[in-house]
Amino acid sequence: MTRKWVRGVALAAAMVTSLGIAGCASGDTEQSAATQTTEAEVFSWWTEGSEKAGLDALVAVFNKQHPNVQFVNATVAGGAGSNATQVLAERLSEYDPPDSFQSHAGAAVVDYVKRGQIEDLSSLYDEWGLRDVFPADLISQLTVRDKIYSIPANIHRANMVWINPDVLKTAGLDPKATYSTTADWIKALEAIKKTGKTPLALGQSWTQVQLLETTLLADLGVKGYNGLWDGTTNWGGSQVRASLQNFQKLLELSNSNRDELEWPQALALLKDGKAGFNVMGDWAAAELENDGAKLGSDVLYSPVPGTAGVFDYLADSFTLPVGAPHPEGSKAWLETVGSLDGQVAFNKAKGSIPARTDADPSEFSEYQQGAIKDFKDNTIVSSLAHGAAAAPTELDAITAAVADFATQKTDLAAFQKALVAAAKG
Ligand code: GAL
Repeated sequence: MTRKWVRGVALAAAMVTSLGIAGCASGDTEQSAATQTTEAEVFSWWTEGSEKAGLDALVAVFNKQHPNVQFVNATVAGGAGSNATQVLAERLSEYDPPDSFQSHAGAAVVDYVKRGQIEDLSSLYDEWGLRDVFPADLISQLTVRDKIYSIPANIHRANMVWINPDVLKTAGLDPKATYSTTADWIKALEAIKKTGKTPLALGQSWTQVQLLETTLLADLGVKGYNGLWDGTTNWGGSQVRASLQNFQKLLELSNSNRDELEWPQALALLKDGKAGFNVMGDWAAAELENDGAKLGSDVLYSPVPGTAGVFDYLADSFTLPVGAPHPEGSKAWLETVGSLDGQVAFNKAKGSIPARTDADPSEFSEYQQGAIKDFKDNTIVSSLAHGAAAAPTELDAITAAVADFATQKTDLAAFQKALVAAAKG
């Protein structure tokens, strides 16, 4: 038995007691508001733009619902949490957890469970009636051995492409045309290249991994893509090889300064008329609208070519770390995250859709209303870059392989070999 494990058990026991005390009826809550002040240190990677706007909106609801709990904002900048998760890993290994941290439904949450770093929240699901308001499939992504470990705040879609119609028109392309294969799309990108504009705006590391993910999804189809994560698709095979060739062409058709750009900067290339397309999750929708762009006219959007009818999902979700210093604060935060008011306010600002199924779609933007419908009707697959499809160690190895390939340290054969090794763990 390791020291870490012993400590985890002791803290977990203390927390169950503490949560029991905090779990009181509303009369008691009022009394505790008068007599007790606590805090909730919440760890996320939402520091700017639409991401910060989303967090601020959620905090505003939190402050209304829990005036006795002080919100302490622990954010670490760096798109998609690549920096934040490293800082968090250090804090968790030093037994210095925040009161709640952002993670992703699916493989990422499961990994924290395996490490004994987060608490079972099943009793809170029962207390707040959450089993009935989240889609059953989503709850199963947060469940390990019948226990539910996190509360989802939203659903995002990763396989979206954002389109500047003027740039396409200048290249003689119909901005509303859809492309059913990556190969057809590449032809359109090549036409843009001839005009001197950037065909495909791209950002740093994780956005390149996301492009790899959507290319594999487009080229292998749902079954082939899912097989990459359950072992039934051969990473070393000829189909993956052909898809990696497409990925290579897409990289060649992107901006050469991609490694220097965070996702909002890559998106700005598109918005400012310097690039034709940008593959980005639908947090881009809120970012564009906040920047004054009109979706549907200034900027068009569609599923990434070859992925129509598929919703490549990810869900930001919040956890209760083992040993959280202010468990009542954690509980208050989680209650707001799961509440209808919290989800409506947060998602309106963030561009995602509520994970809850009882929100009124008419409260949301046109883009979001379409996403709500697609999430119901489409085939759902899990995002690689955003923690749903593969364990963090595999994602890290894939990210390293992509970085080597994109900076031309490795060739295509070595890239594929590195991906085969990444999948083996
Ligand atoms: C994702 C996260 C989104 C958004 C995006 C870009 O991982 O789930 O909410 O923040 O990164 O940073």
